[in-house]
Amino acid sequence: MELDHRPKYHFQPLANWMNDPNGLIQWKGTYHLFYQHNPHEAVHGQIHWGHAMSEDLVHWVHLPIALAPDPWGPDKDGCYSGCAVNDCGTPTLVYTGVHPQVQCLATSEDGLISWQKDPGNPIIATPPEGLSLVGFRDPYVWCEDGEWLMALGAGREGRAGMVLLYRSSDLRQWEYLHPLCEANSLHEGVMWECPNFVSVEGRHVLFVSALPLRRVLYFVGEYAERRFSLGRANVLDYGGHFYAPQVLVDEQGRRLLWGWIWEGRSQAAQRAAGWAGVMSLPRELSWDEQGRLCILPVRELQALRRGHWRLGEIAFNEGSYPLEVQ
Ligand code: FRU
Repeated sequence: MELDHRPKYHFQPLANWMNDPNGLIQWKGTYHLFYQHNPHEAVHGQIHWGHAMSEDLVHWVHLPIALAPDPWGPDKDGCYSGCAVNDCGTPTLVYTGVHPQVQCLATSEDGLISWQKDPGNPIIATPPEGLSLVGFRDPYVWCEDGEWLMALGAGREGRAGMVLLYRSSDLRQWEYLHPLCEANSLHEGVMWECPNFVSVEGRHVLFVSALPLRRVLYFVGEYAERRFSLGRANVLDYGGHFYAPQVLVDEQGRRLLWGWIWEGRSQAAQRAAGWAGVMSLPRELSWDEQGRLCILPVRELQALRRGHWRLGEIAFNEGSYPLEVQ
């Protein structure tokens, strides 16, 4: 029997390929989700930025493609992952162009629907000298003490993953400062993709997607003088299919996280289905009483609940499965 695996309420494009969430932002109340998208096939390829919006984090409206590779531009081989910021009222995307990896910028004047690439692209054309990087991508930008800071995913040849830190006053001229942090050991990955650096209830957390582990690691640590001293590495999600998450700070101050759920189906099955990749549900971050990071599906998703089942008095013993599967 042909199984229809297409999810009913997780976000995904109408067809073809999706990977990382990008440019998450709440703009005048509306949530915007951009994502890595190949609109031509259900495989990774010429990567564009797809776009959708939602009023309630449950129902999504598909919007036109936001960014497409420009055959003569620094993003000719793909518009790779990046973020969105509010530059004094102008929605602004910062993302990676590839071959070689460089950083680019685009702005919108019509409420995030169409995007104009900056004539000065690439805004960062070369990595800092002398580092011999294996990757230089996925800008994550925030405002701190009146200036813009950018964390960039990187890794050094023969060494462990790292995050580079830049600063700027106008989002266009960037100065490299120093590494925000470096992995404690090679076991934490040799290339760190998609860094996200956020404070959750006053404590700083760094999320990275570590290669070749293909796992999302998070670190809690001390942030001082623009350097982050890493505590030990923690795995964010043990499901084995969760990657490249991005955090949105919404207008209520919630830290909401989405990640790409990658395929477990064969590539032939993905092609036959005509789609590949699913977005995780939005999850809210907090700490529990023991100071451990917690992830809860956002409360808006409760609107999808229907008939309730109540099960009680069930003892779970190690290695047993106490429920009858009907
Ligand atoms: C993570 C990643 C990013 C890159 C993008 C390309 O899944 O490899 O590092 O920007 O996907 O689609």
